[in-house]
Amino acid sequence: MSIRIKSKEQIEGIRKSCILAAETLKYLEQFVVAGNTTDYINQKAHEYILSNNAKPAPLNYNKFPKSVCISVNDVVCHGVPGSYELKEGDILNIDVTTILNGYYGDTCKMFAVGKISEEAANLIYTTKECLKIGIKECFPGNFFGNIGYEINKYASSNGYSVVYEFCGHGVGVAFHEEPEINHIAEKNSGKKMREGMIFTIEPMINQGKARTKIDRIDGWTARTIDGKLSAQFEHTILITPSGCELLTDVYGDF
Ligand code: MF3
Ligand code: CO
Ligand code: CO
Repeated sequence: MSIRIKSKEQIEGIRKSCILAAETLKYLEQFVVAGNTTDYINQKAHEYILSNNAKPAPLNYNKFPKSVCISVNDVVCHGVPGSYELKEGDILNIDVTTILNGYYGDTCKMFAVGKISEEAANLIYTTKECLKIGIKECFPGNFFGNIGYEINKYASSNGYSVVYEFCGHGVGVAFHEEPEINHIAEKNSGKKMREGMIFTIEPMINQGKARTKIDRIDGWTARTIDGKLSAQFEHTILITPSGCELLTDVYGDF
C-alpha cells in the first residue's frame, strides 16, 4: 500500500468538499451558546450539509451515531452529540467531515461559550500554534515525521502534552487513507511528502496527561485520563510544488 497522489480532478473535488466543511463550521458558530445542547448543534450541522447536496461522513461510519463530533472540555475527540447543555466557560471542538460528490473534506476547530478561563484560552492558543507549526513542515521532500517532531517540541516546552493515541491521516477519496500523521514523531522519520498528497494535521493537546480513555457506554467519546482540558484544530492540506495549500482554511485564519 502507498500514499495516494491525487489527480487534478480529484483535487478539485476535494477542494469543494473542504470549502463546504469549513463553511459548515462557520455556520455552526451562531449555535454555540449557553443552553443549547450538543445534539441541537449536530442537527443544525446535519441539515446544513444535506442542504448543500453533501453528506456528513461521520454518520454511521464504524457505527458512529451522529453527523459531527462535538468534544467538550475534557473530551479529547469523537465526542458524541447528545443532551448535554452548553454552559458559560465551556470549551468545545466541533469536527466536520463532508462527502461532496464522493470527495471528503475534514476540519475542526475550538469554540468558547461566553467567558472562558485564562488556562483554557492558553490551551486553545497553544493548540492552534501546534497546527500552524505542523503546517510549516508541509512541503515536497520533507519527512512526515517532522510534523510531529516540531509539534511535540513546541507543546511540551510550553508544559502541555500531545495525544498519541489518535492521529491525522490521508484524506480525500476516502475518510481515512494512508499515511497516519503522528503528532509526536522522531525527526526525519517516516515517508516523504510529495506534490498531490492530501492529508490532515489535527493535533490534540492536553493540559495534563496525554493518555485518553474511551467511554464504556457509547464506545466513542475519548476523554483525558485525568479530567483536565484538551483542545484540537484540524486542516486538510494539499502538498503543492512550492509548499502546501490549506484546503479548509477558507476564512484565512491561518
Ligand atoms: N473527523 C474525525 C477525524 O478528524 C474522525 C471522526 S470519526 C467518527 O479524523 F466516526 F467519529 F466520525
Ligand atoms: Co481527520
Ligand atoms: Co476531523
